[in-house]
Amino acid sequence: MDKRTGMKIGLLCVLLGVCSAVKIINLKVPSTYLLDQTSKTPDPLILDCEYEVDESEKGFVLKWLLDGQPVYQWIPSKNPFPFQSFKNRVDTSYVVSQEHLHKHRAMAIIKPLANFTGEYMCIVQTYASIDRKSAKLKIIVRESKFDLSYYLNGDGYITVDCHARDISPLPELQIRINYELFETENLKSVQGENGLYNVSISGRIRKDQLESPAMIECLLSIPETNYNKRRSTTYYDPDSPPIVSSGSAGNETTGFNATETNGASSSLPVPLRTTTSVLATVVTILLIFTSTLL
Ligand SMILES: *[C@@H]1O[C@H](CO)[C@@H](O)[C@H](O)[C@H]1NC(C)=O
Ligand SMILES: *[C@@H]1O[C@H](CO)[C@@H](O)[C@H](O)[C@H]1NC(C)=O
Ligand SMILES: *[C@@H]1O[C@H](CO)[C@@H](O)[C@H](O)[C@H]1NC(C)=O
Ligand SMILES: *[C@@H]1O[C@H](CO)[C@@H](O)[C@H](O)[C@H]1NC(C)=O
Repeated sequence: MDKRTGMKIGLLCVLLGVCSAVKIINLKVPSTYLLDQTSKTPDPLILDCEYEVDESEKGFVLKWLLDGQPVYQWIPSKNPFPFQSFKNRVDTSYVVSQEHLHKHRAMAIIKPLANFTGEYMCIVQTYASIDRKSAKLKIIVRESKFDLSYYLNGDGYITVDCHARDISPLPELQIRINYELFETENLKSVQGENGLYNVSISGRIRKDQLESPAMIECLLSIPETNYNKRRSTTYYDPDSPPIVSSGSAGNETTGFNATETNGASSSLPVPLRTTTSVLATVVTILLIFTSTLL
């Protein structure tokens, strides 16, 4: 059977959907890949295409496409071939299986770029049949910085500011005060030449509307992924420092400077008390123990 005839039969098979000489049984494309720009040796991104193919099949070719553009091709008698956009980004020595018709079916992408996001399609074909499957992949570039802060303005307002740098794709930012969404229109984002975003959200709140202490949070998320990050800080009114409740009653107030305080200070007496009571219990047991001995 010559190549032309084979291809015609192949086409007929596809149209009728009756041939299964080559069939994709499992496409392994992760839905997300987290790219850490600071890592010198990021994990390779491995896309695998598991198929069943009859050993007697002639003219086997495997292709990977990204958004319809070929990025990788492999013919068992030849070396795997990454196309221009993936050149130097695929480890062509990667072997997923020792079987002749499976050896280089997986594409091992080293140091993926942010624009490698898209729909990946695996196409396997022989002269007599063809099969294809595709799945979407999102490359997430981890932010280089994510900070939350607040400061007091002279005009009786407090400004809360949260920002993230060098992240992709565009994330959503949210400020919450005491677990409640803090509505603000002040959202900004800029995209750099490298395709990464700098984003920020800020808001102003009247000082007399914010009870001290207050928990301020900033939540970052990338839609349609499970990528979520959180920063938090505790607001203290520097003009009316919190009263530290302790076991002993009194009129003692301890001064806190906003920058030096955090949520941990007021909970400090609790573990101390626990330690004391544990110690007391141990001493009591020891005393009982020694008295029984005597
Ligand atoms: C991805 O971006 C790089 C530059 O960072 C560019 O050279 C390449 O052509 C882009 N690839 C695709 C598939 O758009
Ligand atoms: C993002 O922020 C960094 C750090 O401030 C800055 O160097 C970079 O130019 C910013 N990118 C854009 C697109 O503004
Ligand atoms: C607590 O002390 C302040 C001055 O240090 C005083 O003005 C105030 O009356 C005291 N309060 C009580 C309940 O004793
Ligand atoms: C808070 O800051 C002021 C000066 O800004 C300083 O005099 C004071 O000692 C500080 N209080 C504490 C508890 O560190």
